[in-house]
Amino acid sequence: MEKLTILPRVHERPHRRYQHPLLRVALVLGLIIVSGYAGLLMAFQAPNSRTSCPKVPIDAQQIVDKCANLDIQPSPPADFYTRKQSDRYVPGTKPVLIKNASIWTGNVDGVEVVLGDLFLDKGIIRAVGEVPVHMLDDLHHVTVIDANGSWVTPGIVDLHSHLGDQSSPKLSGAADTNSRKGLVQPWLRSLDGLNTHDDAYMLSISGGVTTANVLPGSANAIGGQAFIIKLRPTAERSPSSMLLEPPFTFNGSGIEEVQPPRWRQLKQACGENPSRVYSGTRMDTIWAYRQGYEEARKLKTKQDAYCAKALTGQWEGLGDFPQDLQWEALVDVLRGKVKIQNHCYEAVDLDGIVRLTNEFKFPIAAFHHAHEAYLVPNLLKKAYGQTPAIAMFATKARYKRESYRGSEFAPRILADNGIRVVMKSDHPVIDSRFLMHEAQQAHYYGLPDNLALSSVTSTPAQVMGQGHRIGFIRIGYDADVVLWDSHPLAIGAIPKQVFIDGIAQLQNPTVISKPEALQHAPKTPDFEKETEAALKYDGLPPLEPRESISSAVVFHNFSSLFLYNEDHVEQVFAVETYVGPPQIAVMQNGRLSCVGSSEACSMNLDMNTRTIDLRGGSVA
Ligand SMILES: *[C@@H]1O[C@H](CO)[C@@H](O)[C@H](O)[C@H]1NC(C)=O
Ligand SMILES: *[C@@H]1O[C@H](CO)[C@@H](O)[C@H](O)[C@H]1NC(C)=O
Ligand SMILES: *[C@@H]1O[C@H](CO)[C@@H](O)[C@H](O)[C@H]1NC(C)=O
Ligand SMILES: *[C@@H]1O[C@H](CO)[C@@H](O)[C@H](O)[C@H]1NC(C)=O
Repeated sequence: MEKLTILPRVHERPHRRYQHPLLRVALVLGLIIVSGYAGLLMAFQAPNSRTSCPKVPIDAQQIVDKCANLDIQPSPPADFYTRKQSDRYVPGTKPVLIKNASIWTGNVDGVEVVLGDLFLDKGIIRAVGEVPVHMLDDLHHVTVIDANGSWVTPGIVDLHSHLGDQSSPKLSGAADTNSRKGLVQPWLRSLDGLNTHDDAYMLSISGGVTTANVLPGSANAIGGQAFIIKLRPTAERSPSSMLLEPPFTFNGSGIEEVQPPRWRQLKQACGENPSRVYSGTRMDTIWAYRQGYEEARKLKTKQDAYCAKALTGQWEGLGDFPQDLQWEALVDVLRGKVKIQNHCYEAVDLDGIVRLTNEFKFPIAAFHHAHEAYLVPNLLKKAYGQTPAIAMFATKARYKRESYRGSEFAPRILADNGIRVVMKSDHPVIDSRFLMHEAQQAHYYGLPDNLALSSVTSTPAQVMGQGHRIGFIRIGYDADVVLWDSHPLAIGAIPKQVFIDGIAQLQNPTVISKPEALQHAPKTPDFEKETEAALKYDGLPPLEPRESISSAVVFHNFSSLFLYNEDHVEQVFAVETYVGPPQIAVMQNGRLSCVGSSEACSMNLDMNTRTIDLRGGSVA
């Protein structure tokens, strides 16, 4: 009996993509037992007889490979972690030694801080803390920066941006974020609208942003594929050259995928936006999703049936591998190879998508905006696969009906429930230059400092499937780092320098020295009561102002006071130069009526007068 064997080449084999495909034909008697690559390597029997030749297609090896690799999950190649140079390294880039820095690494849940030096070379981080002497042999080629203890963090990673697709400053005719040609369009690509001339790249870099996930807009249920970019200019000046680890097939449909594959990104949206654009309702949107995923499921079933035959050598009449350019991205979703970034606000919408994930069996990487997510943590945990992260604004809510129950305390409540929190810009909705400000505000309203910093660095990096190279300061990671003028969570923190792929991005940055008080994470108020109220009132705690029953308000414990004097502003009180009894300022009927000691100013005050401790603040 003749037997024909075609062995699937599996991705562990080095350089397989450069090998000429070889048919391995073995003529043996009896059963062929192939062992080794458990479950992947199989023996294949051609359906032939003693007398006829098997009809094996000329590209049988490619088909078998494709089939064997169909469900391999995205991951970096095995030798990635020992790389000595980044694929994005620009030859000629000088190594950089940052001395004496307070390095927030992102490690250990974001609590690790290393005091010491940082060495960047060949586009990657080569040393953290102590730099081995041999690395610095060539010291005259190294750019040395004395950080004087300043904070250094990984570059900011924006999980949700429209940078390049939607211009900022706004330019009419330069909005390529939304297609209005259908509710479900997984075949669209944000890359096709990426304008390389947008001023916002440099502006955002000046705020510390180094990487952004550029998503299509939210007009559709499935708006298209997203692409990750690094913000720096490239020598090629093209959109494609800005991409970070694009899927291998991004520039063609016949390209043989290198194994293991890279993560793909997909934008989905539910709720008011798709309803508004398509004059439909939530019911129409969810049905459109189900229709789309049903197409994908059918195609996947066909592919799997095809491969079952190919892998057992049943070549007779097999034909071509079933493929469809419009649905291939959703098939990859069903094969677990896509990070879905899902714009979704209310419990009703989150519930709809959670049901969809369980019906078609695919995970959601993150729900975006998600202003009601903090009210339904247990619903989120019912999503298929890993619980989605929540990517949101810190305080920007109530800008439309579906965002009305948003809460400043949501990040903290979600974190308390063990859900990963990301701050994102939705640039230009929030200018991504100020993305760190979102983390600062989330921190102010109760998100712990380690998680607040992670929310714009390591967490989004992991959620977009790039946690193996960005979002942390670790040896071998991309040399994307920010040197700050204060603790990054202190309001007003500004980068002194930003490195992308080891290249300094800011030319002649203005560097001022900030006071020591700003070199630590700020203390934050106790918002326990307010946090409980947000939950108790289902996101709508009573916000009525306190009724005033006195005509006066008294401010005390201020450190400075400024008054308008005819045509200029004058500082009339400064605590540093003042000796005497504590000063108060009395506002009566909306006007400043007295500044002085409480004795001098106490006329006209009654029992109901409200006093406000400004805790060293300022009155103007
Ligand atoms: C560190 O201090 C030196 C000396 O004052 C100064 O020249 C340098 O700019 C400082 N470095 C940074 C990163 O601010
Ligand atoms: C690091 O910088 C801080 C702040 O300027 C300084 O006090 C300290 O001595 C420096 N340490 C080293 C090792 O240079
Ligand atoms: C297109 O993608 C393939 C696979 O990643 C790559 O080998 C090739 O260099 C790319 N071509 C261009 C022009 O980027
Ligand atoms: C004034 O404010 C500070 C905080 O800045 C606080 O520590 C102090 O107790 C306050 N003083 C009074 C008299 O309330």
